[in-house]
Amino acid sequence: MIVLGIESSCDDTAAAIVENGRIVLSSVVSSQDKIHARYGGVVPELASRSHIEAIVPVVDEALVRAGLTLKDIQAIAVTQGPGLVGCLLIGLSFAKSLAYVRGLPLVGVNHIESHPYAAFLAEKGEDKEAPSFPFVALIVSGGHTTLLYLEDYTKYRILGQTLDDSAGEAFDKVAKLLGLGYPGGAAIDRLARQGDARSVAFPRPLLGKGNLDFSFSGLKTAVLTHVKALGGPPAEAHLKDIAASFQEAVIDALVTKGLWAAREAGVKNLVVAGGVASNSRFRAALAEAAETEGLKLFIPPPKYCTDNAAMVAALGTRLLEKGFSAGPDLNALPTWEGF
Ligand code: KG4
Ligand code: ZN
Repeated sequence: MIVLGIESSCDDTAAAIVENGRIVLSSVVSSQDKIHARYGGVVPELASRSHIEAIVPVVDEALVRAGLTLKDIQAIAVTQGPGLVGCLLIGLSFAKSLAYVRGLPLVGVNHIESHPYAAFLAEKGEDKEAPSFPFVALIVSGGHTTLLYLEDYTKYRILGQTLDDSAGEAFDKVAKLLGLGYPGGAAIDRLARQGDARSVAFPRPLLGKGNLDFSFSGLKTAVLTHVKALGGPPAEAHLKDIAASFQEAVIDALVTKGLWAAREAGVKNLVVAGGVASNSRFRAALAEAAETEGLKLFIPPPKYCTDNAAMVAALGTRLLEKGFSAGPDLNALPTWEGF
């Protein structure tokens, strides 16, 4: 089955064409980073308008790159939520119209739930092992820091999540206060490579607790307090140390709880996905920890860690196979609780 995936939940307009829920024939992402950078965060109204402009060219590009036309598309999967309602509605309206005009099956997908399915994707001709159920997924993005136990494509349980900021939000806020621009995760990643992660002893939030929840807002405040105490902007070398020390504190919490969750759930497969999973130090720390723990680790390549439509098509395909489908009344669900 050849499925067109559409994603517009936040600030990326994305379309992808995926065969049999696995082989990526094309994946196109139009980022709005430049539009929102000057505001230091996503401006919902600007994001919606930008999705309207981008959606048709992005879908067109996905078809061209796959060497296909609309006649080859057999079904459409679209992000239904969670996300910014105005943004979700653009993708949904487009997907519903296209499905109606072409008489195609349509399915709505939960964006957060779809992140781990990026680990099932492979390029044409690539021989890649996929995770096997049941598995634990750690989803670390700008919007969420969530541990899921996935039994099947349709059955999952939330094991833990952040009580305040997401890990990605912490990266972005700390980057902003260090003057590194928006979004700042990748900038901290680069800077931290040259810093000493043991330089500043930032707190490891909730690590003392035996539960699987996270908290990152105290850590962000600790960085702010540290910078303020310097009495002026940090020197270049110290900036690198702050970035490395902050990053290590986030990674410590994520890796520790990811392993705890897998142990507690009794699974051997751990999937880590979401934008922050493209962090180079996080990937290395996870690989090391998984090996020690005897876990099989699946982290998608960075391009499928950040928001994309291939993961939406991947999960959408399985949902369609299981008989799920939607009609023209498919509506946006801005919060997870709505699902
Ligand atoms: O999954 P994603 O693209 O969008 C959401 O669903 O939120 O994640 C975006 C987040 C941002 O907070 C960004 O700063 C962070 O992922 N991010 C990174 C890196 N690349 C992106 N954080 C740390 N290191 C990176 N290399
Ligand atoms: Zn996401």
